[in-house]
Amino acid sequence: MAVIESRSRYAAAVRYMHWTVFVLVLLAYIFINIFELFPKGSALRTNIKAAHFTAGIAVLLLVLPRGVIRLRNGRPPIVPALPYAMEILSKLTHVALYAFLLVQPILGIVTLQVGGKAVKLFGVTLLPSFVGTPNTALSHQLEDIHGTIGTIFYYVIGLHIAAALWHYVGRRDNTLQRML
Ligand code: HEM
Ligand code: HEM
Repeated sequence: MAVIESRSRYAAAVRYMHWTVFVLVLLAYIFINIFELFPKGSALRTNIKAAHFTAGIAVLLLVLPRGVIRLRNGRPPIVPALPYAMEILSKLTHVALYAFLLVQPILGIVTLQVGGKAVKLFGVTLLPSFVGTPNTALSHQLEDIHGTIGTIFYYVIGLHIAAALWHYVGRRDNTLQRML
């Protein structure tokens, strides 16, 4: 039974990881987009920003176990099989998404470290500052790169979601059901 299920869907651990990371990335985006709605210096603003850092750090902590679990469990076939060009496009998108899940949080952490800032949530230090002398200019440059990558990935993630929905309603194959 387990064997049949693992052939028609991704393994449970792979599916749980996919959707957990999806929620964390969604939260990271939501928090960073709403924190500016609150007054400068307010505890709420500081903690919403810190929640962005925390969600992002959780993504980073999960990316390696996720990759290992995925490699151990394989990928169930898409029925009917994809044309070669589409197969390549989906592989490229997945590699880009994995790279993003790794690079984006690291860049965020480096931005804070170079700026001499710790990650504190509700006053609790989750990640201390390890850099003695902050370099504010460099930190701002890294923040810009982090922001640009964040913007680019609205489109990449959008493409990924559009593709998943197109497989379901347009091509009517089992791509999406394998991840549910
Ligand atoms: C999946 C993970 C993450 C995503 C998708 C993400 C995305 C973003 C986005 C879209 C922005 C807004 C850029 C702008 O509007 O200019 C941003 C800002 C920022 N992020 Fe992240 N981020 C992630 C993880 C992290 C982590 C782990 C940290 C640090 C621990 C971090 C630190 C920052 C900082 C310092 C800013 C600038 C905030 C400000 O304007 O003061 N990010 N991030
Ligand atoms: C932050 C948002 C998301 C990220 C970072 C993300 C990331 C990924 C990654 C890296 C894979 C490749 C899995 C592997 O084979 O190793 C994947 C697969 C998949 N994702 Fe997402 N995903 C996101 C959102 C979504 C959403 C919202 C949907 C559905 C509407 C979705 C549907 C799928 C499906 C169906 C697959 C399997 C594709 C295949 O095997 O060809 N994803 N996702």
